[in-house]
Amino acid sequence: MKSVALATLLAALLASGAASAQPQQSTGTTAPRPWMNAKLSPEVRTKLLLAAMTQEEKLSILSGWFGSDLPGYKVDPLARYASAGFVPGVPRLGIPPQWQTDAGAGVATQNAFRDKPLERTTLPSGLAIASTWNPALAEQGGAMIGAEARASGLNVMLAGGVDLVREPRNGRNFEYAGEDPLLAGTIAGAGARGVESAHIIGQVKHYAMNDQETGRNIVNAVIDRSAARMSDLLGFEIALEKSHAGSVMCAYNKVDGDFSCENDWLLNTVLKRDWHFPGYVMSDWGATHSTVKAANAGEDQETGYKRAEDFYFGPKLAAAIAAGDVPQARLDDMAGRVLRTMFAKGVIDFPVGLAPIDFAAHAEVARKVAGEGIVLLKNRGDVLPLSAHARRIAVIGGHADAGVLSGGGSAQVYPRGGNAVPGVEPTSWPGPVVYLPSSPLKALRRNLPGATVGFDGGQDPAAAASLAAASDVAIVFVTQWAAESRDVSISLPDGQDALIEAVARANPNTIVVLETGGPVLMPWLDRVAAAVEAWYPGTDGGDVIADVLSGRINPSGRMPVSIPRSVDQLPRPKLDGEGVQEHTPFDVVYSEGAAVGYRWYAAHKLEPTLPFGHGLSYTSFAYSNLRAVLAGQALQVSFTVRNTGKRAGADVPQVYVGPADGHWEAPRRLGAFDKITLAPGVARTVTVTVDPRLLSMFDESKGAWSQRAGAYTVWLGRSARDLPMSTSLRLPERTLPAGADFTSAR
Ligand code: BGC
Repeated sequence: MKSVALATLLAALLASGAASAQPQQSTGTTAPRPWMNAKLSPEVRTKLLLAAMTQEEKLSILSGWFGSDLPGYKVDPLARYASAGFVPGVPRLGIPPQWQTDAGAGVATQNAFRDKPLERTTLPSGLAIASTWNPALAEQGGAMIGAEARASGLNVMLAGGVDLVREPRNGRNFEYAGEDPLLAGTIAGAGARGVESAHIIGQVKHYAMNDQETGRNIVNAVIDRSAARMSDLLGFEIALEKSHAGSVMCAYNKVDGDFSCENDWLLNTVLKRDWHFPGYVMSDWGATHSTVKAANAGEDQETGYKRAEDFYFGPKLAAAIAAGDVPQARLDDMAGRVLRTMFAKGVIDFPVGLAPIDFAAHAEVARKVAGEGIVLLKNRGDVLPLSAHARRIAVIGGHADAGVLSGGGSAQVYPRGGNAVPGVEPTSWPGPVVYLPSSPLKALRRNLPGATVGFDGGQDPAAAASLAAASDVAIVFVTQWAAESRDVSISLPDGQDALIEAVARANPNTIVVLETGGPVLMPWLDRVAAAVEAWYPGTDGGDVIADVLSGRINPSGRMPVSIPRSVDQLPRPKLDGEGVQEHTPFDVVYSEGAAVGYRWYAAHKLEPTLPFGHGLSYTSFAYSNLRAVLAGQALQVSFTVRNTGKRAGADVPQVYVGPADGHWEAPRRLGAFDKITLAPGVARTVTVTVDPRLLSMFDESKGAWSQRAGAYTVWLGRSARDLPMSTSLRLPERTLPAGADFTSAR
């Protein structure tokens, strides 16, 4: 068990002499614990507690143990079942353990426990949440999974993936929030804020530029620092401002030559100095590569899947301190950051424990998120919602008779009711492939009692086509399973493109429903009547898909990513590192800089299949009265949105901005957005403020944002390419220091 490991660690500490660096005095359990006074500030409480701690106690809260057994290591009996990690507490001082769990879709079960998993509510994937463009809803989702973590006895939730979708083939795109820093930061930040409302520690990760899984432990992301500040890092910065998340996870990959977890620029300069981050930096599992370099560069807590002797912190850190290679003050800072966060977030004042979970109420939250996250991509001739004329409906493929897909790896949440399609390969890490038991087919039959709804598994395109030919409408479900640790093809796997083509040839009213981890090529889009991107739609996701198809829900999702026409449109047509030996480091050069996603397409005058921000509704919206003014120094944009159709619905008006002289990395950036629900015929005037960083260029040499004086265009539109209105104004020169906080929810 882990106490063996802990004993080894303590013995080594004593042997290194580090323990004597601090006066040791047991206060005993009855001694006063002034730091438990919740009226004091987290800073004062931390100071009091640090003064009472021994050196080895400080060190012990900086090493995280894996949540399950491995050869040579048995998990501590105090660790929570199936969890990601465990950091021992200090019972004599009233410090509880840190019980860590993944992640963004809910309380995950680690791989070793897959045969007897925890069954928890699954939120739709990160990209689905981002597709809602609704931070309030993302926050509700975060609060729901945070509550399940708390009720499962877990007090650190490793949710909050905010790496940009720079690489559409990244196998973890489903855990992230899209290709734009404003959208990703706003949504992931809202989610982490929700998690922390359960009085547990939330997170943003994987810091930084962890934008592909291929070679994730050896890849070196090379990017101009100013460009990084205006893209991936801006997403993190906004997410932290929105959430004040207590922890940041440093990533597996290198950035500019140094591992993320020993990257002084990323951790000390950007995160802690410029952004004033008061929380702690924990390593991704096994992402620590050194003792002195990591500690001095700003990593505060080491975690991983390792035995006692493999830790870089613990005894090795004690020795480094004793040798003067890591200052004692740095150790106090590391432990202090962890403790301050525990106080500030309520982990100490509101101890977690096992409690009942209201699964029905939580499923309702997941359904709401899915209902706003599903994106109607195309709807020729209003084939959707399914009308009473659709008497015979063919449902084809995607295991739609059984359930909906979810994403794999450490973030895998197991559903109540078990895997609806067991046995799909891979059945072991990063699998198993898990389908949540919510069948779109059954839900469609329920929603459309007057119709005959047939099913074909889709294995044989000819058989599927003949069912389609005998039906009024054919709905093809296609899936792309994605998981941590490996990337995916940008094309649908297993001949599903050919299946769609065969069905579309047999029936002009073919509708495609995609359950994909990330963006996939859609070569068939012109030949189908309608398409719906459902991502991984979470608990009850099959019911929600059926509600969208049958019109009970009016879709309001918008794409958080662009859909390219082919890999030739990407900055890197070939995925870097493919076929590279496991231990041969390689670079991925982000020469596109801050021109990620739609910015890249616009800068290179490329037309993607579907643009960022795109999404249709069963009603229509019209825009008018666009005005852009400077209110003090802030750019305020107002406009009127009217529901011009016959149904209530929600719209996502998007404001894009760009300089007339074209000095940015791209002609325009998303500057602001809103989501508004309107009854038919009703109009509302909306005012949004553009974050000044989105009007500026970052200059790393000056450590500042600078807005150039001149003419700027402000567009109002429905996507990055559908921009029916614009206006222009002059902006003055303006300089803002790095880390000026514009969006803080505080
Ligand atoms: C993943 C992290 C996760 C951690 C703990 C790592 O493999 O990259 O996202 O939080 O494991 O399970």
